[in-house]
Amino acid sequence: MKRDSRFMILLYAGMVLVPLLLFAYLVAAIAYHSAETLMLGIAALWMIIFGIVGSIEIYAHGRNPEERLPMLKGNDIKKGLESERGRRPKGAEEVTVRIKRFNPQTKRFDNESYSVYEDRLATVLDTLLKIKSQHDNTLSMRYSCRMGICGSCGMVANGKPILACETNLLSQLDEDKSITVEPMHGHPVLKDLVTDFDDFFAKHESVEPHLYRKDKVEQYSTDKEYRQTKREVNQFLPYSYCIMCGLCMDACPVVNSNTEFVGPQALSQVYRYYKDSRDQNGKRRLLDSDNLHGAWGCEFSGSCSKACPKGVDPASAIQLLKASIIADFGEKE
Ligand code: SF4
Ligand code: FES
Repeated sequence: MKRDSRFMILLYAGMVLVPLLLFAYLVAAIAYHSAETLMLGIAALWMIIFGIVGSIEIYAHGRNPEERLPMLKGNDIKKGLESERGRRPKGAEEVTVRIKRFNPQTKRFDNESYSVYEDRLATVLDTLLKIKSQHDNTLSMRYSCRMGICGSCGMVANGKPILACETNLLSQLDEDKSITVEPMHGHPVLKDLVTDFDDFFAKHESVEPHLYRKDKVEQYSTDKEYRQTKREVNQFLPYSYCIMCGLCMDACPVVNSNTEFVGPQALSQVYRYYKDSRDQNGKRRLLDSDNLHGAWGCEFSGSCSKACPKGVDPASAIQLLKASIIADFGEKE
């Protein structure tokens, strides 16, 4: 007999035998008309009932809470998914999802179409993950936080750059209840919906997006506090909400035609650090942006700000940067 089984037998025996002894005590109490013993006897009766019910519960469902969960094995999972596929959940609509998938072997895009049921709460990312789990597990997309924080799930839906985890699926549908999802246009595609961000991060890095102090001790090992007024913080705060999703770069017509242009994301960060009162590199930042690959490359189409899911408004940052180059150049240390 296994150790676990012996333990269970002892447990059941304990749960039933102890209350039985107390019950015998109750009978004795009634026989000898003792009020205190009578109370003890009633308590024993309750314990018997709880003991029996508890034993049945443990025996039926196992000792661990995990054991109470239905165990799905290979075939059950497959069957579950098949029935889910054929079933229309309450309140859900049938949606056709067309995905433009890049095949790195053939270097071509394949158009695949999937039919899914989704309700009003589903995001585009939920639907793609459903397609991945129920229809084709080779489908690749990048995502992480699922809450609009990490900036990994950028893609294009019905021609619009979106964060898949923040975009409601049903609100994006065409009249024929379909949606077309494709990888971002402004970045090289690696596989299916996954794009390469190396160039994007290199441009971001090129503008030195960090605070600069002239004193190297302050720069690298200070324990000093740099206090700012609310007004000083508000100067750069809106531009610090960037999550580096790359959607503004995708929407920018200049980035898509001039690969040298550092783009709205990096330029908005130039302005963010230029306006930060703790930064002491303002003059250099203005100088580095004063060229056609920097601030003057922007043609102010405004599509970057429209695409930004965080309201960063890179278009306004670039125009303010241009104004700073013209008006303030040389004044800031
Ligand atoms: S500025 Fe907006 S759209 Fe551009 S990378 Fe940052 S969060 Fe994304
Ligand atoms: S998964 Fe992180 S922003 Fe969408």
